[in-house]
Amino acid sequence: MTAVGIDAVEIWTGKLKLDLAETFAPEMGDDPAKYTKGLGLEGSSFPDAYEDIVTMGANAAHRLMERKDLDPDDVGRIDVATESAFDNSKPVSTYIAGCLEQVYEGDFHHANKGERKFACIAGTQSIDDAYNWIKAGRNRGRGAIVVASDTALYARGDAGEATQGAGAVAMWITENPSLVELSTEQGYGSADETDFLKPNQQFPSVDGKRSVQVYLSRMREALEDFESVAGETHPDDYEYIPFHTPFPGMVRKAAVLGYRHMIRGTDAEEALTDRIGPQPRRDDFDSREAFDDAIRDYMDDLKETEEYREWYGETIEPTLSISSQVGNWYTGSVHIARMSALRAAAEAGDDLTGDKLLVGSYGSGAQAEIHEETIVDGWEEEALATNIDEQIERRYDISFDEYEQVHDRHNHDKRTELEPFTQPDGEFVFDGWGPMNERK
Ligand code: HMG
Repeated sequence: MTAVGIDAVEIWTGKLKLDLAETFAPEMGDDPAKYTKGLGLEGSSFPDAYEDIVTMGANAAHRLMERKDLDPDDVGRIDVATESAFDNSKPVSTYIAGCLEQVYEGDFHHANKGERKFACIAGTQSIDDAYNWIKAGRNRGRGAIVVASDTALYARGDAGEATQGAGAVAMWITENPSLVELSTEQGYGSADETDFLKPNQQFPSVDGKRSVQVYLSRMREALEDFESVAGETHPDDYEYIPFHTPFPGMVRKAAVLGYRHMIRGTDAEEALTDRIGPQPRRDDFDSREAFDDAIRDYMDDLKETEEYREWYGETIEPTLSISSQVGNWYTGSVHIARMSALRAAAEAGDDLTGDKLLVGSYGSGAQAEIHEETIVDGWEEEALATNIDEQIERRYDISFDEYEQVHDRHNHDKRTELEPFTQPDGEFVFDGWGPMNERK
């Protein structure tokens, strides 16, 4: 069977940075550790005045096409995953194709273009669409560009404000890929939930605390569903486990539950029971509250064991480095988690060809999906090719007053004028609602 997967990835961060400890926490009257330790976030990325989901997506896709030496004729699909779309008729992929046509001789008239929406999970669903299209033999030798692009903004004063972010990830999906091959097995956990909604509004209405519980429940269902087709999983089966990362603290919660589930029935479970006792059982408690408290204490003890800390440090921690600097990118989030880990491994000179990833995607509303990926020959070169570290470093550090102006500028309902803080450098820019997204 032909291998199908992700051949290459390019990442584009919004060019502005809000420092959560230095700039945001003092204005909120909060201890900076709430953000840096509690949520696990150092900073958020924001788009400059001339950036939006189209320019960030087009710039990431352009870098991808240049690096992989692609012409429009090589591309059979352009799919964009976003929950920040501004057009209720045509997909954002048509705007991005329009940008790219300014710099290539050919055009994308032959390419199928679409837009996927299901909060953060839409990027993974777009990869699935490309995978199925190639596997079905409908691709005529062409590959698919999948772009995940979002400006993840919350209303000012909302608890989610500290988790904002903006950026795009462009991925090239092909036969015989050079980064990761996707598994045929997938697991899902999906339910009609109302903890995070944007009914005809730009900023979400969020029940933050509940959204954390919904994430964990759907992710648990997806893992169980995945195991029902792929067989039981074990924490040591995977080199890395990239999760959807709204903030690293969320992944800390998901990881400990996933680990506990995956070690059941193994020697690791026996060793754990010897150390911290058996997992509490509901039947042994009079009330739900008492049982929940006991489970919380048990999980806290588990997190402190040497075995867990070592596993977490090797398998989860490396997936969080980019997101701790840029915040939540919604659809792009799990894809920067994968690249964080692979980049760190490539820089360390690790040999991972043939090793596995377990990838946990999630979107509010809600759906989780879990699949496996196999790291393939060529991955080091691909992982090192993105310049995301330099981009993160180069961001302009905004003051709180500037942050408020930037937030207003990117509020679709009341777009305000704003002088840019940075200069475009040979890239697509948003130039107002006339002839849009010129290259400057
Ligand atoms: P909050 O309620 O302001 O924060 O916002 P908190 O009081 O819960 O504190 C956060 C953590 O910091 C806690 O840790 C505190 O203990 C700790 P935890 O107990 O949870 O482990 N803390 C400190 N630690 C050290 N030193 C200190 C300190 N102070 C506090 N001094 C909340 C948290 C998640 C509610 C908020 O960020 C929010 O509403 N976020 C938006 C929703 C969200 O991200 N949900 C995540 C799951 S849903 C999802 O991932 C989908 C999403 O990406 C959307 C989509 O799908 O499109 C959001």
